[in-house]
Amino acid sequence: AIVTFVSYDGEEHQVPVEAGQSLMQIATNNAVPGIDGDCGGEAACGTCHVMVDPQWSEQVGRSGPGEEEMLAMHPERQPTSRLSCQMTATELWDGLIVELPEYQL
Ligand code: FES
Repeated sequence: AIVTFVSYDGEEHQVPVEAGQSLMQIATNNAVPGIDGDCGGEAACGTCHVMVDPQWSEQVGRSGPGEEEMLAMHPERQPTSRLSCQMTATELWDGLIVELPEYQL
């Protein structure tokens, strides 16, 4: 399964899904620019913000209460925004597209 990260300027990075890992881990493992993951995946830093393609929002799920606190501080927050460290990848994500904000927190 392949996930595509689209940067704010339209640059695409396609990376293989590693099921069971978080989307933040997958991004950092593959050196996708724009995902920092400073807190190591604790939903505490807000540097792993992604905006999920609305067509995929149902499949990957909406943000939980722990994420909302961080997401509320993001000026670029969208209805489908998630903290990618709180998204656990599955093989069903083949073709998933997420956009990256111009700036992380
Ligand atoms: Fe810190 Fe996701 S890595 S909030």
